[in-house]
Amino acid sequence: MFISENLNVNEKGNLTVGGVDTTELAAQYGTPLYVMDEQAIRDACRRFKGSIDRYYGGQGMVCYASKAFSCMEMCRVIDSEGIGLDVVSAGELYTALKAGFDASKIGFHGNNKTDDELRYAVESGVGHIIVDNISELLRLERIAKEKNVRPHIMFRIKPGIDAHTHDFVKTGQIDSKFGFALETGEAYDAVKQAISCEFVELKGVHCHIGSQIFDIAPFEEAARVMLKFIAKIRTELDYEISELNLGGGFGIRYLGEHNPAPFETYMERVSAVVDETCAELGISRPFILIEPGRSIAGPAGLTLYTVGARKEIPDIRTYISVDGGMPDNPRYILYKSEYEAVVANKASEERSETVTIAGKCCESGDLIGENMPLQHAESGDIIAVLATGAYNYSMSSNYNRIPKPAVVFVNNGEARVAVKRETLDDIIRNDI
Ligand code: LLP
Repeated sequence: MFISENLNVNEKGNLTVGGVDTTELAAQYGTPLYVMDEQAIRDACRRFKGSIDRYYGGQGMVCYASKAFSCMEMCRVIDSEGIGLDVVSAGELYTALKAGFDASKIGFHGNNKTDDELRYAVESGVGHIIVDNISELLRLERIAKEKNVRPHIMFRIKPGIDAHTHDFVKTGQIDSKFGFALETGEAYDAVKQAISCEFVELKGVHCHIGSQIFDIAPFEEAARVMLKFIAKIRTELDYEISELNLGGGFGIRYLGEHNPAPFETYMERVSAVVDETCAELGISRPFILIEPGRSIAGPAGLTLYTVGARKEIPDIRTYISVDGGMPDNPRYILYKSEYEAVVANKASEERSETVTIAGKCCESGDLIGENMPLQHAESGDIIAVLATGAYNYSMSSNYNRIPKPAVVFVNNGEARVAVKRETLDDIIRNDI
């Protein structure tokens, strides 16, 4: 009935998530409201972890990409599932450490880390620093020397793979700001240089080909390309790269017509490719890391809004305006990302209309979506937009000086606030 499997409709005809009536959440915590289903997050973590155990003999690690959705409570839930974390800034690292996350299970990413960030990562003892460029390598070497430590690093490599997804979220091709290019020999030269560094230890290579990818073939191809690179380093430089990080990017269902392959299928196929390729190349199987973000946080989340104005423009369209918009969901204006929506207090009714859901910002492009099938919505109704858990709260803004919504976690019929709603005083907090 809905794209997300974790949703239901109760006897009142209201949408429920995690055993909680969404209209009651809206009444208690106000709207707009981000709601995260803890069990859905946990189930996704377990499936990722379980599939590595099943298809790759447990010789791997899942690191949740916290850029998809980060707050201290999320870090605590992820930590309690025994998986690792990928962070890309001092802010994400700080959030994780303050939540008590084990630093040795954190990988620090970023294409332009500052010296302060590198120092913070080194001092915190993060498990890996994923180095993006030579300037960073040299700066990290200097910082590690000052502190007399030898951090483990990986190199971010552009494997030259064109994943079929939105241009803004493609990252594996040569024209990308992320990482070292393979084709030009840049990656190979960087490895040579890293091997000669006394204060960093090159453990692995990393690639991330893009995001919201449905096809498994580009992931298989990326694994092949990366293993060939590992073999070349072994033969020509007599150096063993023992870890291969294949990044994230697994697509999720936003609309009924989206059919992402189950992650188990991805892991089964990629593991087979790794086994075959390693045998062909005569190298030992690396330890594998993966970094799912969207696929852990996305389906677990939904956003609740209250309907304000209903505007019917004859023969053109009907606008249903809600009390949020691009500040809490910037993904339509950025990528034209589509979502499924439900009138939460009419969830058992037919979706009888096709509408545009508009936000409240002074910007025409501030829409949640166009051509959306929806139950007849009137002022005061509650709309739930589904599968919004990834890259919405984390990319939210205060445009029009609108305070950010609260985040509530639900589980087993209970709700708890994970992030408080911003107040008007928060809006002027740093103003002088
Ligand atoms: N690892 C690395 C190095 C990444 O750059 C990313 C995402 C991930 C893992 C996680 O990818 P995921 O599994 O979530 O696809 N703001 C965009 C998505 C940007 C993704 C950036 N990197 C959006 O809203 O669609």
